[in-house]
Amino acid sequence: MTTRTALVTGSSSGIGRATVEGFLDQEWRVYATARDPDDVADLGERTDCVTARLDVTEETDVEQVVARMVDEEGRIDCLVNNAGYGQFGPTEDVPVERVHRQFEVNVYGPHRLTRAVLPHMRDRGDGTIVNLSSVAGRVSFPGGGAYCGSKFAVEAMSDALRAEVREFGIDVVVVEPGPVATNFADRADAEVAGVERSGAYESFYTAFADASLFGDDGPATIPPERVAADVVNAASATKPRARYPVGTPARVGVLARFVPDRLRDRAFALVDRLS
Ligand SMILES: NC(=O)c1ccc[n+]([C@@H]2O[C@H](COP(=O)([O-])OP(=O)(O)OC[C@H]3O[C@@H](n4cnc5c(N)ncnc54)[C@H](OP(=O)(O)O)[C@@H]3O)[C@@H](O)[C@H]2O)c1
Repeated sequence: MTTRTALVTGSSSGIGRATVEGFLDQEWRVYATARDPDDVADLGERTDCVTARLDVTEETDVEQVVARMVDEEGRIDCLVNNAGYGQFGPTEDVPVERVHRQFEVNVYGPHRLTRAVLPHMRDRGDGTIVNLSSVAGRVSFPGGGAYCGSKFAVEAMSDALRAEVREFGIDVVVVEPGPVATNFADRADAEVAGVERSGAYESFYTAFADASLFGDDGPATIPPERVAADVVNAASATKPRARYPVGTPARVGVLARFVPDRLRDRAFALVDRLS
C-alpha cells in the first residue's frame, strides 16, 4: 500500500506532538514542523518522520515546506492545522495588536497553509484538512473574546471550505477539544500576564489565576493523545465527520450554543458573583 503523508504544524509539544506520534504509529510518513526545529529533532529520529522549520505566520516557511513535501513525496494526504495559543483577557484590556497576533497565528496561519496545499490536493483529487478548533469555537465566554473569536473564525472558514472543496474529493474537519493537558495553559498565563489591566475587571484576573480555564489538572482534562487519536481517525476515514468534539466538557460545551442568550448571560453573571 502507498504510504500516506501528513503535514503537522506546531509539533513541538502537546496535541501537535501527540498527533505526529499517532500518525507514525499508523505508518504514515509525517512532516513534523515547528518554529524551532530543535524542538522536534527527537521526532526526526523516528522512521518516516521528516522535520522542518515552520512558523505559521511566515509565508516563506509555509511555501518552502509545502514545496519540499510535494517535491520529495509527490503527495500531501493530510494537513493538520494545529499550531495555536490562547490570548485571554477582558476585551477592553486586550490591545488590538494582541488580537491581531492571535488571529495571525490561529486564523491566518491555517488559511496560509490551506491555500498552499489545496492546489496539490486538487490535482490529486484527494486530501483531508484537519483544523484544530476548540469548544471555544462553539461557545464564547467572558475573558475569551480574542481566543474564542479566533476559533469561531476557524469554524466558519472550515464550514465554507468544506462545501467549496467537496467536489475535488477533499475533506475538511474541525476537531474541538475541551481542556487538554499541554503547554497551552502556561502560554495562556504568560499572555494574560502581558496584558495591561484597566483595573475594571479584577474579578476576571482573580478567577483566571485561581482556576486556569484550560489548566492541566482539572478532573475533566484529557491527555493530548486522546485528541491525536481523533485527528488520525479523521484523516484516515473515507468519509470523516465535519466535527469531532473531544472529551466530555467539549461534548457538553458545544451544546451551550443552543441555550438562549439571556440564560447564558445570566449563568456567566452568576459565575462572576460566586468567584
Ligand atoms: N490545550 C487545550 O486545552 C486546548 C483545547 C482546545 C483546543 N486547543 C488547541 O490545540 C492546538 C494545540 O495546542 P496545545 O494544547 O497542544 O498547546 P501547546 O502544547 O502550547 O502547543 C501549541 C503549539 O503551537 C505552536 N505554535 C504557536 N505559535 C506558533 C507559530 N506562530 N507557528 C508555528 N507554531 C506555533 C507551539 O510552538 P512553540 O513551542 O514554538 O511555541 C506549539 O508547538 C491549538 O490550536 C489550541 O488552540 C487546545
